[in-house]
Amino acid sequence: MSDKELLELAKSMCSKAYAPYSHFQVGAALVTKDGSVYTGCNIENASYGATNCAERTAIFKAVSEGHRHFSRIAVAAGDGSTAYPCGICLQVMNEFMSDGKVILEDNGNIVEYEVRELLPHGFTLV
Ligand code: THU
Repeated sequence: MSDKELLELAKSMCSKAYAPYSHFQVGAALVTKDGSVYTGCNIENASYGATNCAERTAIFKAVSEGHRHFSRIAVAAGDGSTAYPCGICLQVMNEFMSDGKVILEDNGNIVEYEVRELLPHGFTLV
């Protein structure tokens, strides 16, 4: 799947977001190293700290299905802004895709970052 297709899939996932508190919809689309694709959206909670971001929804879905190595994740915000991943999501990416890439849209252009560029000194134990 191309970066453009992956980003379109991430955008389409914004419609699945459960965001009654922030009204900020986020979608994500993740590619495993063996080529499977998993999607996610943000899922908020009345106890705000229980909210799960779109990126982690996609990653946790994939890990729960037996995947542990990912190459790319596209992230899109429903309002068209550039959806830079939060620190917690970057730390989760560091666990399963430290050599992977993050694909975003910036003013209509596709931009690509290395996970290690966005989180240069991620915590690790293994
Ligand atoms: N959000 C994500 O889904 N991904 C991020 O990387 C940053 C923030 C969500 C969480 C919450 O539902 C909403 O955006 C506002 O913070």
